[in-house]
Amino acid sequence: MKFLVTGACGQIGSELVPVLRQRYGRYNVVVSDIDTTRLMTVFDEPSVKADVTIRKEIENVIEAYDIDVIIHLAAILSARGEENPSLAWRVNVEGLYNILEIAREYDLDMVFIPSSIAVYGPETPDNPGDIAIMRPKTLYGISKVLTELLGEYYYMKYGLDVRGLRLPGVISWKAKPGGGTTDYAVEAFYHAILRREYVFWVRPDTRLPMIYMPDVLKAFIQLIEADDNKLTVRFYNVQGMSFSAKELEEAIRKYIPDFKAYYKPDPLRQKIADSWPKTIDDTRARRDWGWRPEWDLEKMTVDMIENLSKMLLKQ
Ligand SMILES: NC(=O)c1ccc[n+]([C@@H]2O[C@H](COP(=O)([O-])OP(=O)(O)OC[C@H]3O[C@@H](n4cnc5c(N)ncnc54)[C@H](O)[C@@H]3O)[C@@H](O)[C@H]2O)c1
Repeated sequence: MKFLVTGACGQIGSELVPVLRQRYGRYNVVVSDIDTTRLMTVFDEPSVKADVTIRKEIENVIEAYDIDVIIHLAAILSARGEENPSLAWRVNVEGLYNILEIAREYDLDMVFIPSSIAVYGPETPDNPGDIAIMRPKTLYGISKVLTELLGEYYYMKYGLDVRGLRLPGVISWKAKPGGGTTDYAVEAFYHAILRREYVFWVRPDTRLPMIYMPDVLKAFIQLIEADDNKLTVRFYNVQGMSFSAKELEEAIRKYIPDFKAYYKPDPLRQKIADSWPKTIDDTRARRDWGWRPEWDLEKMTVDMIENLSKMLLKQ
C-alpha cells in the first residue's frame, strides 16, 4: 500500500508520518504540504510540495508515486477558519472535493480524513454518538459536516472507501497545534514550563472532550486497517478524556506547584467552545474495531510535562 499524506507538516501529520513509515516503509509514505520550510526540515524524502486547492498538483503526486491511499490532513482549523472564512472554504471544501474526485478518478483504495467534534453545535444533545444532530455554527464545523456527508456519498455512489475519525481536541508536545479552539490545553503546558503562568482564553468551567496523541496515532492505524465489513458508519467518534480548564490547571499544578493560572475568555473561541459537547460517545468505535483509549488527564499531564520540559529547556 502506498500512502500520500496531505497537510503532513501539521500537529497530527508530524507524528503520524513517522508511525506510518515505521509500519509500511519509508518509501511507501509520501508526504506533502504547502509549508516547504517545514517539509524540508521535518521529513526525509519522499516529500513533495502540493497545494490541495490545486488539483493538478495532487494529481501529479498520485501519478508520480502510484498512490493507493490518501490520508487527507490539510485543513484550516476552527479558530483560524473563523478569522479567514474564505481560506477555510478553499482548503476545507474545494481541497476536499479535489481529493475525493482524484481518488474516484484514479480508483484509489481509500481516503482517510479526520473529522472533528466541530460538526456538533448547541442543538446537539449531551454526549452525542456518531449519528446525532449536527448543526455547527463555525465554517470549520460546516466544512467537516460536508466532509462526512460527501465521504458517505462517495462510498455509497462510487464504492470509494472513505473513512475517518471524529476527533476531539488533540493534545501533543512534538508539534504545536495549528489554530484550533482547544489549543489552550496544549499551550498551558508550554507556558507552565517556561513561565510558570498561563492565561486561559476560556472560562475555568469550560469542559471539552480531548485525546492525547499516542491514542490518536493508535486510532488512525486501527481504523485504517479495520475490515470494511465491520464498519457500520464512515466516521467514528473517539475520545480519550474530558476535563475543564480548571481541572487542567489543577493537574498541572500537582507537578509544577508554583504554576499560576488566569482566565480571560476570548469571545470568539469561548463561543465556539460553548457550542461543542463536553463529552462524546465512542461506543461504536469500541464495538466495531476495538477502540480503547489508554491516556487520561493524569497520565497525559505527567507525560506532557516530562517530554516538553526536555524539549523546551534544552533549547
Ligand atoms: N489538532 C486537533 O485538535 C484536531 C481536532 C479535530 C480534527 N482535526 C483534524 O485533523 C486534521 C489535521 O489537523 P492538524 O491539527 O494536524 O492541523 P494543522 O493546522 O496543525 O496542520 C494542517 C497542515 O495543513 C497544511 N495546509 C494548509 N493549507 C494547505 C493546502 N492548501 N494544501 C496543502 N496543505 C495545506 C498546513 O501547512 C499544515 O501543515 C485536520 O483535518 C483537522 O481538521 C484536528
